Order: sequence, then structure tokens, then C-alpha cells
Amino acid sequence: MVRVALVTGGSRGIGEAISKRLKAEGYEVAATYAGNDEKAAEFTKATGIKTYKWNVGSYEESAAGIAKVEADLGPIDVVVANAGITRDAPFHKMTPQQWHEVINTNLTGVFNTVHPIWPGMRERKFGRVIVMSSINGQKGQFGQVNYAATKAGDLGIVKSLAQEGARAGITANAICPGYIATEMVMAIPEEVRAKIVAGIPAGRLGEPDEIARCVAFLASDDAGFINGSTISANGAQFFV
Ligand code: CAA
Repeated sequence: MVRVALVTGGSRGIGEAISKRLKAEGYEVAATYAGNDEKAAEFTKATGIKTYKWNVGSYEESAAGIAKVEADLGPIDVVVANAGITRDAPFHKMTPQQWHEVINTNLTGVFNTVHPIWPGMRERKFGRVIVMSSINGQKGQFGQVNYAATKAGDLGIVKSLAQEGARAGITANAICPGYIATEMVMAIPEEVRAKIVAGIPAGRLGEPDEIARCVAFLASDDAGFINGSTISANGAQFFV
């Protein structure tokens, strides 16, 4: 039976690579996006993967969107809570708006994405919840008090969900990518980015598909006993 996977933020960056890889592995994939209609249309044309537009920061939009995906494709077996934003600033310059935008999208967005899907997973006795955390949730980062708080929060979410879902055949795990070659990382000022790359023992940024392969593994039947874990994929930049 073909499994259905939902990838939030699934038409760009790491999410795009995840959507493509899951499709290549035989999943029926739905990818969400927040705003860039043009890029989403291009993505669907190139890949055949359906896209759905909603704001993961809204519970109502998420629940309605998920109901639509399930009506179109069937019950969601694998959910990848990947959508995320940055609003970097040193703490003394960070505004309440920058704080709330990041918390709402990156952290509340995970609740909004997983919560409507969870009861169905419990009933069907199978589910894979994969949350995109970050190296910066593990180590913190100058300029990212807001983002690091959400990414550390993701680890608390999966460790708790893992305990609640284990007997219902649901696993919940996190991936902590290091610095990956995406628009988000390319938006860091060049001189700052050069210093970051110099601190990565691998001597390079990661590739989006290197993260997508971790997702595919966690989604697979082979990973059934891996629950509440974190996969770090960061080129040896940081060890927990
Ligand atoms: N450690 C110590 N000092 C640092 C520093 C660091 N890592 N980074 C910057 N500084 C210092 C600078 O040297 C400078 O010092 P001086 O004032 O003495 O010259 C000062 O901080 C810069 O202060 P500014 O007030 O000028 O800062 P700014 O308003 O220009 O903003 C910043 C700085 C936004 C934090 C910028 O440095 C930046 O973008 N840093 C990168 C943050 C980062 O890594 N973001 C990750 C984005 S990708 C992502 O999030 C994906 C993922 O999961 C990995």
C-alpha cells in the first residue's frame, strides 16, 4: 500500500529535497508552502508533487489544509514538520515581532501541523513524525535567540511525542541539520557565512538531499525502534 507523506515548507530548500526523495521512494507526497505561488507552481510542474498553500502558524488553516490533503490523497502516514523561518538579530536589537513570528511559525507551527494528524495515526496504529530542528537548537547561535529557542523546543516535542505514540506504532524523531546550501543560509551576510563555513570540519555546506536521506530513513519501516531520537547531520561542526 502506498503511504502518504505531508511535508510542510515542502516546495523549497531542504523541504523540496525531502518531497522529491519521498516521492522517489514511492510515497504519495503533499508539499505545503506559505507564499511563493510561482515557485510552488514550478515545483509541481517539474515534479508532479501536489502543493497546498497555508500558514503553518494558523491552527485553523492547518486543520483545514490537512483535511483537504487527506480527502485528496488518503490518511497521512508520514508528517515532516519542516517549515521554518529566520528573523536573525542580536538579542539587544531583537523586536517582540521578530520573536513572535519565529515562535509562531517554527514552534507553534509544529503543534499545528502534527496535532490534527495525530488522532488518525493513533487509530491506524502507524505514524512517522519527523521534525526539522537545527544545529542551532543544540548549540545556540549568536543572533538567533528566537530561532534557537524554537529548534531546542522541537527536541522537547519529539521526546514527549515519542513516549505518547510508542504503543500506538508512532515514532517521533528530529533531525538537526547543520548549515545546508539553501536560500536561508545564503541570506547570511557573505563575510559572516565565510566564517561559519571555516568552522565546519567538513569544509563545506551540506546538501539538501543529505538531509532528505535522513528523513527517508526515519520514515521507513527499518526505523521503527528509533523513537525520540535526534539525527545530527552537520559535517562535524558540533557534537551533542
Ligand atoms: N560571535 C561573536 N560575535 C559576533 C558573532 C559571533 N558569532 N557574530 C557577530 N558578532 C559580532 C560582530 O563581530 C560585531 O561586533 P562589533 O560590534 O564589535 O564589530 C557585532 O557582533 C555585530 O553586531 P551588529 O549590531 O552589527 O549586528 P547586526 O545587526 O549586523 O546582526 C547578525 C548580526 C544578524 C547576528 C549577523 O551576524 C548574522 O546574520 N549572523 C549569522 C546568524 C546565523 O548563523 N544564522 C543562521 C541562519 S541559517 C539557519 O538558521 C539554518 C540553520 O538551522 C543552521
